[in-house]
Amino acid sequence: MGQPVDWWRHAAIYQVYPRSFADGDGDGVGDLAGVRARLPYLAALGVDAIWFTPWYPSDGADGGYDVADYRSIDPVLGTLAEAEALIRDAGALGLRTIVDIVPNHIAASHPWFAEALAAGPGSSARDRFFFRPGRGVGGQDPPNGWQSAFGGPAWRRVTEQDGSPGEWYLHLFAPEQVDLNWRNPQVRTEFEDVLRFWLRRGVSGIRIDSATMIIKDPDLPEVPERPGPGNHPYVDQDEVHDVYRQWRTVVDEESGGTAALVGEVWLADLDRLTAYLRPDELHTAFNFDLMAQPWHADALHASITRTLEAHRRVGAPATWVLSNHDVTRTVTRFGRADTAFDPAGRRPGVPTDLALGCRRAAAAALLVAALPGSLYVYQGDELGLPEVEDIDAEQRRDPIFAQTDGTDPGRDGCRVPLPWTASGTSHGFGPDDGAAPWLPQPAGWGTFAVDAQTGHPASMLTLYRTMLSLRRALPELAGQDLRWVHGDGRSPLADPASGLLAFTRGDRFVCLVNLGPDPVPLPGAEVLLVSGPLTARSHLPSDTAAWVRLA
Ligand code: NOJ
Repeated sequence: MGQPVDWWRHAAIYQVYPRSFADGDGDGVGDLAGVRARLPYLAALGVDAIWFTPWYPSDGADGGYDVADYRSIDPVLGTLAEAEALIRDAGALGLRTIVDIVPNHIAASHPWFAEALAAGPGSSARDRFFFRPGRGVGGQDPPNGWQSAFGGPAWRRVTEQDGSPGEWYLHLFAPEQVDLNWRNPQVRTEFEDVLRFWLRRGVSGIRIDSATMIIKDPDLPEVPERPGPGNHPYVDQDEVHDVYRQWRTVVDEESGGTAALVGEVWLADLDRLTAYLRPDELHTAFNFDLMAQPWHADALHASITRTLEAHRRVGAPATWVLSNHDVTRTVTRFGRADTAFDPAGRRPGVPTDLALGCRRAAAAALLVAALPGSLYVYQGDELGLPEVEDIDAEQRRDPIFAQTDGTDPGRDGCRVPLPWTASGTSHGFGPDDGAAPWLPQPAGWGTFAVDAQTGHPASMLTLYRTMLSLRRALPELAGQDLRWVHGDGRSPLADPASGLLAFTRGDRFVCLVNLGPDPVPLPGAEVLLVSGPLTARSHLPSDTAAWVRLA
């Protein structure tokens, strides 16, 4: 593929949520045939790799994150042979493949769980999970007070073979996602084998779901009110690093050192996060710190600075993520008064200025694409798709909606099937005579379609295409250096207090983002790219970014 072994230090990675990307067979659900047909689109977009959220057989309890078989493909999406062909086709176009491995939990329909239910209390089959007797009279209360990330208790009681109410099992997410016991050697061996299985099929990366949660304090103590770093009974326990050190040896061995491990490490403490990126552990981890910041120059400046510093200390590249399949779409988030993403509140119905959100999302794209490290683009962000907020209750699929009795709308709004064509019954998501998309596309979805934006100089898609091709072509953007341009009171580049962020890469490349209220003059320079129109006097308006090359 002509890239260096450390391709992951700089790659632009496109996240495909297979069920919503493109529907090849017309059943209303996106599939691998749909992705294969659209590989030229992704190659032309200018990304280096594709991360597929789970494509394995699953009961759909959590959009594929309830895996029933890690070595096969969900029949709704295709076949293993098709996945192999997809990995090959993508590779031929210069696109690497990253698969999503879910080690924290397996689907309740996985054979291991059936075995555990049948084998009964105290069995070795149950030791692969967390089965415990309940508390209280007759064991009627859950073993402890842990709560599911999706709402409600993290325990469910089973009925034993003789029909009596039995033990409880742990599920930190949906009840159909059963937590595995990573102190059980069979669990470890099984996943090492799964890694080898996919690496042997040519994947270049493994995204690790809920990577910090796999090791639990064996005593299962209550979660302290304010757990300090490393002090949470099931998040970021120190022992977790042993697992990933072992995974690193497996991945290095299988891939000759070319494949990368990407952790979903959702930790506020950056030193605890970068501990996962020590040279013998994961290659990269998602950086959610930036996503948690408001659209404010000081906050973004501080987040970028501390992120780069923390990563530099361990010699790992940072990653830049504006959104994914779990969070509010960027244009919607940035169109609100409170622009920081907070998983605790998805804020439906909050007044949203989508035109403002769109301007800021475009500026934010230029900001993150100019930073050193790897870049993630969530499918549809290149089209400027907004969050779909008016999905009927009966059509919602995310377990968060049901488990919170509808108080949290969940994540369906960022998973609505993509519009490829302005016309057509599903806007080209599937064939015109195919079934309706599994989540409804709202009115007006066609205005965001790929064909409607192609060739349109002011569209989000054109901006992403130009941005990604420049990011690849400009030698300044390949390194790891970044220098902030600080104010001396005279330079037009330099007035952080007014909300202008500016940094150089190399000697002459400058990225400017105007988060202040007033237009600012650009330095004497060649303008390479702007996220929106300049003013009549060629100043950079509010909520706009520019890439320039100094004379
Ligand atoms: C993180 C994934 O991104 C999310 O979609 C999923 O619900 C949880 N992990 C549980 O697997």
